[in-house]
Amino acid sequence: MNRFGLPPQILRLVLLTALIVGTYAVARTLLTPATFGQYGHYRGAALEETASRKPLFAGAKACDECHSDVSEKATKGHKLISCESCHSASSAHVRNPDITTVKLTDNSCLRCHSSDPARPARHKQVTTIEHYPGDHCIECHLPHQPNKSP
Ligand code: HEC
Ligand code: HEC
Ligand code: HEC
Ligand code: HEC
Repeated sequence: MNRFGLPPQILRLVLLTALIVGTYAVARTLLTPATFGQYGHYRGAALEETASRKPLFAGAKACDECHSDVSEKATKGHKLISCESCHSASSAHVRNPDITTVKLTDNSCLRCHSSDPARPARHKQVTTIEHYPGDHCIECHLPHQPNKSP
């Protein structure tokens, strides 16, 4: 027995518990970011940070202004997909046309057209090893109007 009138093992447990809770309270105060909990269970400042990033995609209408000829063709051909689904995120090119878009390869087409049982049957697909291997897709297909013969 000591001056608190507690058995020593209980006193040690009480001190240990106080130490753990105390460490947690100090760490929580020091490590929680300033705006945490401002709006919910996340950092309030994260909203501003995310909103201030520049979008990489320019959007479906952004190309019409300078490439209306291509847009017109595409509405009669690959009409369901937007320019950037092939040409990739191009907002840098929209801001400054001297920055070229990504170079496309056959894989850009095969991403959507290589035969895959998971795709709906109505979507046109080819088996790469049987469909003119060695030749490039755009030698035979117009990329913007694949339904029209070149
Ligand atoms: C199905 C994929 C696909 C889609 C969708 C697509 N393109 Fe293309 N585009 C190509 C390919 C492949 C080329 C060939 C040149 C290359 O290697 O980059 C090309 C070439 C071009 C060129 C340069 C040559 C030319 O034909 O004038 C421009 C400009 C262009 N595309 C703009 C557009 C715009 C604008 C849209 C949307 C309306 C669009 N593309 C949609 C695949 C596509
Ligand atoms: C402000 C005008 C402008 C806008 C907007 C624009 N382009 Fe272009 N683009 C050009 C010019 C200029 C060229 C180079 C000359 C040419 O080949 O027609 C070009 C060339 C291209 C080419 C040929 C390869 C290259 O990069 O040089 C592709 C592909 C292309 N643009 C795609 C797009 C797509 C996709 C969009 C929409 C996201 C777009 N462009 C929006 C002006 C523009
Ligand atoms: C993002 C997916 C996607 C990419 C990438 C893509 N396609 Fe397509 N393709 C489609 C869809 C969806 C259709 C159905 C027609 C439409 O767009 O309305 C189609 C239709 C076609 C057709 C059938 C046209 C017809 O009606 O007979 C051919 C051929 C074709 N694409 C070739 C290509 C080639 C070549 C490329 C590469 C330059 C390519 N596709 C890239 C989605 C894609
Ligand atoms: C040597 C020319 C040639 C090349 C290269 C070629 N195709 Fe074709 N493609 C054709 C012809 C011709 C047809 C229509 C008859 C057929 O189905 O074989 C066709 C049909 C298609 C179809 C429609 C299939 C259907 O079920 O109606 C798609 C999708 C297609 N090709 C995608 C591609 C892709 C993607 C590439 C590149 C990996 C490619 N093609 C390369 C000539 C070619």
